[in-house]
Amino acid sequence: MTSLLITNIGELVTWDSERPVLRDAALVVEHGKVTWFGDRTKAPDADAVRDVGGAAVIPGFVDSHTHLVFAGDRSAEFEARMSGRPYEAGGIRTTVAATRAATDEQLAANVARHLAQMRALGTTTVEIKSGYGLTVHDEARSLAVARQATEETTFLGAHVVPADIDVAGYVDLVTGPMLEACAPYARWIDVFCEDGAFGADESRTVLAAGAAAGLQPRVHANQLGPGPGVQVAAEAGAAAADHCTHLDDADVAALADTGVVAGLLPGVEFSTRSPYPDARRLIDAGVTVALATDCNPGSSYTSSMPFCIALAVREMGMTPLEALWSATKGGAFSLRRDDVGHLAVGAKADLVVLDAPSHVHLAYRPGVPLAAPLTS
Ligand code: NIG
Ligand code: FE
Repeated sequence: MTSLLITNIGELVTWDSERPVLRDAALVVEHGKVTWFGDRTKAPDADAVRDVGGAAVIPGFVDSHTHLVFAGDRSAEFEARMSGRPYEAGGIRTTVAATRAATDEQLAANVARHLAQMRALGTTTVEIKSGYGLTVHDEARSLAVARQATEETTFLGAHVVPADIDVAGYVDLVTGPMLEACAPYARWIDVFCEDGAFGADESRTVLAAGAAAGLQPRVHANQLGPGPGVQVAAEAGAAAADHCTHLDDADVAALADTGVVAGLLPGVEFSTRSPYPDARRLIDAGVTVALATDCNPGSSYTSSMPFCIALAVREMGMTPLEALWSATKGGAFSLRRDDVGHLAVGAKADLVVLDAPSHVHLAYRPGVPLAAPLTS
């Protein structure tokens, strides 16, 4: 079989510049790519036909920010937060200890389990960070595990400073032997630029060393409070500044002016019971917004992009269509990819069928498994 016609699509979201959303549509896939889409009644012949019975079809979700290489459990921290305890980034060290103690096989099995959950919920592209190893050996093997699962791998040795070393010594390690060991497995470099993690100058040093080793920058920015993260991301020409929960007007202007994508991660605010980022303010200022899960055992243990869409619509001022864009095309911008996150002609045929007539149901029916990849 070389061509497949998917027809009787009640609503087709392509993000094509002329016809981003179509009703009563059809689409043709050949050799894993979209070769035609349009009005159902004008569809060309194909070798096989699939009738989706009026369902909506959307691009697969692009989850541009996850920390899937980890071991251990931090549900007790979540339970304590729900009784009023604040989120503490120091909890990262608990996961570091469990991750160091795990074998490569255990880490890979954990990644595979979470990826299977993500795929079942409609995610077709995933970025995965290291950051729970924090030694040369444990960061490199974390990235080797991640690289088996995705091309979108990020070296986050600069996640927190381990207890047994000072900041300056650790930045030297991250930008020296650790970077050398990790760069072959990574496309991106990331730094947690935040009080209690890495300051502006340290973050600049980390990103510059990564860039010199061929890694493109992205930043954990302005998550727990105001700070320099967004400005550091803008200066570095980062693809994304992720979190963006605490922004001043200059931060918003910097994102809009430089085109750095603001990655919003509402699973964090849900799981830490904190105020959500103001997506409306960013969109109205012309900032490109991506939505991602930040899937990790501490601040956001969800693998569900539909859950993030529901939160973005209910809590962050996004329309259902904006949230879907940010979870697909916005994620693709964050990863500097033009082959995923949309279904225009030439795109990868990462099709997701909704058990619903329109994308609105993703937020209208939170917690319901409506999205599933089209299987051949
Ligand atoms: O993106 N901000 C830093 N890192 C993660 C949290 C990791 C953890 O708590 O284990 C985040 O929220
Ligand atoms: Fe993160």
